[in-house]
Formats: sequence, C-alpha cells, structure tokens
Amino acid sequence: MAKNYQLENIKIVEMLESDLELLLSWRSHPDAYIFFKSQKGPLRWSEHFNFWHNRKNRVDFIIFFKESKRWRKVGSINLSRLETELPEIGIIIGEMTLHGNGIGTKALSLGLEWLKDAGYKKALAVINTKNEASKKIFSKNGFEKKHKIDVWEEYTKNL
Ligand SMILES: CC(C)(COP(=O)(O)OP(=O)(O)OC[C@H]1O[C@@H](n2cnc3c(N)ncnc32)[C@H](O)[C@@H]1OP(=O)(O)O)[C@@H](O)C(=O)NCCC(=O)NCCS
Repeated sequence: MAKNYQLENIKIVEMLESDLELLLSWRSHPDAYIFFKSQKGPLRWSEHFNFWHNRKNRVDFIIFFKESKRWRKVGSINLSRLETELPEIGIIIGEMTLHGNGIGTKALSLGLEWLKDAGYKKALAVINTKNEASKKIFSKNGFEKKHKIDVWEEYTKNL
C-alpha cells in the first residue's frame, strides 16, 4: 500500500489533471507570482496545460488542510529536477488567508520526507531575496543559504 504523507491536519497527495484549474488560479495571484522565477504575470491556460503535459522528472502534489473535520485543497508543492542528485522544491499556499498558520512549514517537511523515501540525499530551493515567508519555512526545515545570484538565493539541505 502507498505511504500516506500526513502530519496532523496537513497532507500531500499527488496532483491530478483535474486540479489544474485550481493551480492556475493560485499561481495567478500577484502576491504569489511576484516571487516566481519563471512567471511574470497571471498564468495563461495554454502555457499551464502545456507545462503539465510536457513536464518531466517532476512530481506535483496538492496540499490538503483539515479544518472542522473536513479536508480541503489549499496549495501545492512540487519536486523537480528529479533526474539530478539535487532536486528542487517549490511551494505555494494558494488560500492566502491561511498564510502564517504553519501549513507551508509542515507541507514542506512532507515533501522532504517524500524525497528522502525516494532515496535523494540533498534538496535545493531557489528563493527571491524579498520572500521572507519562504526563507523562513525553508530555514525552519533545515535549509541553509549557499549562494546568491542577483535576487535569487540558493538554499540547500542534506536529507
Ligand atoms: C511561502 C509560503 C508557502 C509560506 O506558507 P505559510 O503557510 O504562510 O508558511 P508558515 O505559516 O508555515 O510560515 C511562514 C513564516 O513566515 C513568517 N512571515 C510571513 N511573512 C513574513 C514577512 N514578510 N517577514 C518575515 N516573516 C514573515 C510567518 O510569521 C511564519 O513564521 P513563524 O512560523 O515563525 O511565525 C506562502 O507565503 C506562499 O504561498 N507564498 C507565495 C508563493 C511563494 O512565495 N512560494 C515560495 C517560492 S520559493
């Protein structure tokens, strides 16, 4: 039986094509994409749909949050560059009013557990220097800053 990646009221489950619309709307919020390296404005469906069908060496998860006995979809975490020894993690909590409740920190630890179970020894995050919330959740999960190129800070962690 497949392992469940769950920590109290947070779990991550592999994303389905039927989640694409939700991810498109989360990623189209300016407070989110301002920090994305590869996105400069609201996401277009054609770009998003092509990305999904052409993605390689990558796994995307939906982050579920349980409140009042009900699970709902609140964000997404992705693990890319899986063909390398240094996979990269990206994360978004799309339900903005939930920010600051510890969901990102816990979801990240579940993503790291998945990588460790898959045999990876190290993980990478590339974070905009102004993204204080992101720097915080990666640091809390044991990542350390290694390089800075322009506004992008590279953080790594030994798993
Ligand atoms: C980054 C992100 C995933 C964090 O998710 P979250 O659920 O809010 O994270 P948490 O609640 O676990 O932790 C956030 C921490 O940052 C802190 N924080 C938030 N904004 C901050 C700011 N402007 N300055 C300093 N700290 C800040 C919070 O207080 C919290 O710290 P604490 O636990 O010590 O109180 C979320 O903000 C997000 O989706 N941002 C948009 C997309 C994005 O930037 N993704 C990352 C790309 S690398």
